[in-house]
Amino acid sequence: MTAFALRFLLLSSSFWFVVLRAQHPYLEEQPDFVKPCSLKDSENNACLSELIENMFQHWQNGVPGLRGVGALDPFRVGKLRIAQRVPPNLDVQVALRNLTTYGLSQAKILNSTSLFKSGHYATGFHVQLSKITLKCNYKLRGHVLVLNLNSAGVLNSEIDNLEFFLGMKMKPIQLQDLTFMNVTAIKTDVKRVDKVRINLTNLFGGNRELEDSANQLFNENWRVLYDVLRPVLTQTFDTVLLDRFSKIFQYVPAKYLYQGFD
Ligand SMILES: *[C@@H]1O[C@H](CO)[C@@H](O)[C@H](O)[C@H]1NC(C)=O
Ligand SMILES: *[C@@H]1O[C@H](CO)[C@@H](O)[C@H](O)[C@H]1NC(C)=O
Ligand SMILES: *[C@@H]1O[C@H](CO)[C@@H](O)[C@H](O)[C@H]1NC(C)=O
Ligand SMILES: *[C@@H]1O[C@H](CO)[C@@H](O)[C@H](O)[C@H]1NC(C)=O
Repeated sequence: MTAFALRFLLLSSSFWFVVLRAQHPYLEEQPDFVKPCSLKDSENNACLSELIENMFQHWQNGVPGLRGVGALDPFRVGKLRIAQRVPPNLDVQVALRNLTTYGLSQAKILNSTSLFKSGHYATGFHVQLSKITLKCNYKLRGHVLVLNLNSAGVLNSEIDNLEFFLGMKMKPIQLQDLTFMNVTAIKTDVKRVDKVRINLTNLFGGNRELEDSANQLFNENWRVLYDVLRPVLTQTFDTVLLDRFSKIFQYVPAKYLYQGFD
């Protein structure tokens, strides 16, 4: 009876082991472009900068074997909604579809810092993107600057020299016999943007003259628009990044990236 119970226990625990393993796939081989960095407190950790830059470049088409994380370049988002009311310049509801962004894999990491505090690692990066282009279908309703709009068409945009700080909090966790980083928070803060160009088609039912002058108005006032949209754009960006980074870090064992983990 006891032998039977024991065998049953052993069988069922190995059964669960197999199920758990199947539920948590991970990258089984150390990629050759990654060398583990020290996470010791530091003001300018060149190794971490290189690591992040390499991950952006080498995994621009996605991470081999990881489902649910698409390409970084081009980076696609199926659907985005933005509602923002900041009188007097803006009161709009915008729906974006099939958003495609080019240029993220070219990110340069200018410097990075790391800090260990109450069980968390906090890393920070200054990221520079010299050119980003973006294309999507848009639907827009409301007013922008002095214009009342209700239209749908294609939006094209180009951003020159975007610099932002990216702060990331992570905590080591054990999954089966390996350590992974659980990314618990991501916060970005834009430090610099040199220029944003936008072009929306079909703003006034196909009237090209009105459309061109509206686009001209947007482009002359891009900084005003950017300032009012900044909080909602930042929040959206943080959510997208958190989703991506947490999936990648739960797939890539910590020991591939950082020294001192098993
Ligand atoms: C989405 O955008 C991509 C790239 O611009 C394009 O190839 C694709 O056909 C678009 N899909 C839809 C449903 O519009
Ligand atoms: C990192 O680079 C940015 C932009 O050049 C600069 O403002 C910041 O002070 C630098 N931080 C460190 C820790 O070197
Ligand atoms: C990772 O952190 C989040 C947020 O703190 C938490 O909700 C989640 O349970 C953690 N995941 C694991 C596997 O520990
Ligand atoms: C805006 O885009 C349309 C369609 O792609 C193009 O015909 C037009 O020349 C563009 N306008 C500007 C100011 O770039």
